[in-house]
Amino acid sequence: MLLRLNSVSKHYQLGDTKIRALDDITVEIERGEFVAIMGPSGSGKSTFLQVASMLATPTGGEIYLKDIDVTQYNEVERAQLRNKEIGFIFQQFNLLAKTSTLDNVRLPLIYAGVSEREQKRRSIAMIERVGLLDRINNGPAQLSGGQQQRVAIARALINEPAIIFADEPTGNLDSKSGDEIMKLLVNLHKEGKTIIMVTHETEIADFAQRLITFHDGEIISDTKKRTKKKTPKKRKASK
Ligand SMILES: Nc1ncnc2c1ncn2[C@@H]1O[C@H](COP(=O)(O)OP(=O)(O)OP(=O)(O)O)[C@@H](O)[C@H]1O
Ligand SMILES: [Mg+2]
Repeated sequence: MLLRLNSVSKHYQLGDTKIRALDDITVEIERGEFVAIMGPSGSGKSTFLQVASMLATPTGGEIYLKDIDVTQYNEVERAQLRNKEIGFIFQQFNLLAKTSTLDNVRLPLIYAGVSEREQKRRSIAMIERVGLLDRINNGPAQLSGGQQQRVAIARALINEPAIIFADEPTGNLDSKSGDEIMKLLVNLHKEGKTIIMVTHETEIADFAQRLITFHDGEIISDTKKRTKKKTPKKRKASK
């Protein structure tokens, strides 16, 4: 098992009211799963992603990544683990402005202490992978939304993370660019990557193999799609 949240909560105190953004969530994600998260606005989807990806700390419960209890980690250890094991794709792309595709993509490698030569080699390969070699020296302002998201995906993948989290990755894109992004994610899943993606759109969620639905900070349903039975190999005719 790759990721396990055990009775995880995230509560905010706003004056006299306690907001239970996440309320006692227990869930396990296996290696290679493609999970879609849905639910109404304010139901805790983004909070779940932030807590599960260690961007935010929970107020209760434990989170195990590869059997390590990351809630025991301090800020620095968490940041290191996140850089190594987690890729995050945001609705707003979150690229560094006035920074080239190459430099945006190689940023996690700089933090990881990879040599400059290796940074370049790996970044160029990843940029080619998302089809943006012809935009390698352009900044985000010179790219379309779909292209910016592809840069963000290359950046999320560059350290070969164990899990990719995506919070409405197609939310700011027209349907054609959205389809391109989903094609990329589907291919990553086929290669064996683990993906956890929030979306408002059923058509987007349909690409995933498992659907978790949130309501008021709780998981109200968790269903795995039945995979189509593979056609059995032809047997040699038996006597
Ligand atoms: N920093 C914060 N302080 C107080 N309350 C917060 C904070 N962040 C989130 N919340 C509250 O937690 C709840 C869950 O928010 P969250 O952003 O996870 O929802 P969501 O399901 O992602 O919604 P959306 O679909 O609109 O993105 C909401 O009621 C929100 O107002
Ligand atoms: Mg959200």
